Amino acid sequence: MISETIGIIGGTGWLGGSIAKAALANALLPAENLVISNRSGDHPLAQHGACLVMDNQELVDRSDLVIIAVRPEHFASLNINATGKTIVSLMAGIPAQTIVAQTSASAVVRAMPNAAVEIEQSFTPWYCFGELDATLKSLVQRLFECVGTAAEVQEEGFIDYLSALSGTGPAFPALLMTALAHQAIIAGIPSDIAQLAAKNVVVHSSQLLATRDAQEMIDALVGYRGVTAAALQSMTLGHFEEQIGRALQKGASVARKGLQS
Ligand SMILES: NC(=O)c1ccc[n+]([C@@H]2O[C@H](COP(=O)([O-])OP(=O)(O)OC[C@H]3O[C@@H](n4cnc5c(N)ncnc54)[C@H](OP(=O)(O)O)[C@@H]3O)[C@@H](O)[C@H]2O)c1
Repeated sequence: MISETIGIIGGTGWLGGSIAKAALANALLPAENLVISNRSGDHPLAQHGACLVMDNQELVDRSDLVIIAVRPEHFASLNINATGKTIVSLMAGIPAQTIVAQTSASAVVRAMPNAAVEIEQSFTPWYCFGELDATLKSLVQRLFECVGTAAEVQEEGFIDYLSALSGTGPAFPALLMTALAHQAIIAGIPSDIAQLAAKNVVVHSSQLLATRDAQEMIDALVGYRGVTAAALQSMTLGHFEEQIGRALQKGASVARKGLQS
């Protein structure tokens, strides 16, 4: 267990709450070293020993590492002084320099987890702005490993791009699943069967990719020169990959422009 105190502003939300829960479940730190805040007060995490406060400055003063897990539009009103502290921001679209300017933090880590933190299956790339010693870097990595896998990246722009890729978590698979089901229904397949088939493809069959190389899998299935080959060739001719590229660029440009109101 670490001896540092971690504070999570917005520690009762989807991301903040999931990270708090996972840090305790994985025994990263004792509950008394976890401080969380929100505006509305009471939350079940407080019953597990974490300290819930409504004063963000109190949280900052008590913490060695301050995580900001509020929505981007709420950042401007936080009004905290984090002089000498390291802030880890989960907020999409807010540059590290803006966070330093508003909080006086000595270092800012921009991290981009996704909704799968809830099941400890997120991928979290993170970027460090300013000086961060090896102990705190290792703490950041370990914290995000509590909710899946994590890796440091060397350019802040990568975080904006990855916000549109891994930051979207289940969104692309959900779009694929609904498209498969809708099209099957239009083709006359009963709705319940269409839903089962689409869910199997996206959620269950795709588990094979956890241990197999995706390109080798495509090559092997296309090698039968039958149904799968015809279906995938139609996707390729429809410029599937280019469409994915445009979608990622579109999301990344929103992240780069910033989401602050
Ligand atoms: N959800 C995702 O898939 C995802 C993926 C990547 C990145 N992110 C980023 O993660 C951040 C959080 O997203 P989320 O989905 O977890 O949002 P969320 O569920 O709405 O959680 C936000 C939390 O912040 C609290 N909060 C708001 N204003 C506050 C303030 N002034 N002081 C203290 N607490 C405050 C809210 O509680 P009260 O209302 O009680 O104050 C709430 O618990 C966002 O910046 C987003 O860009 C989210």
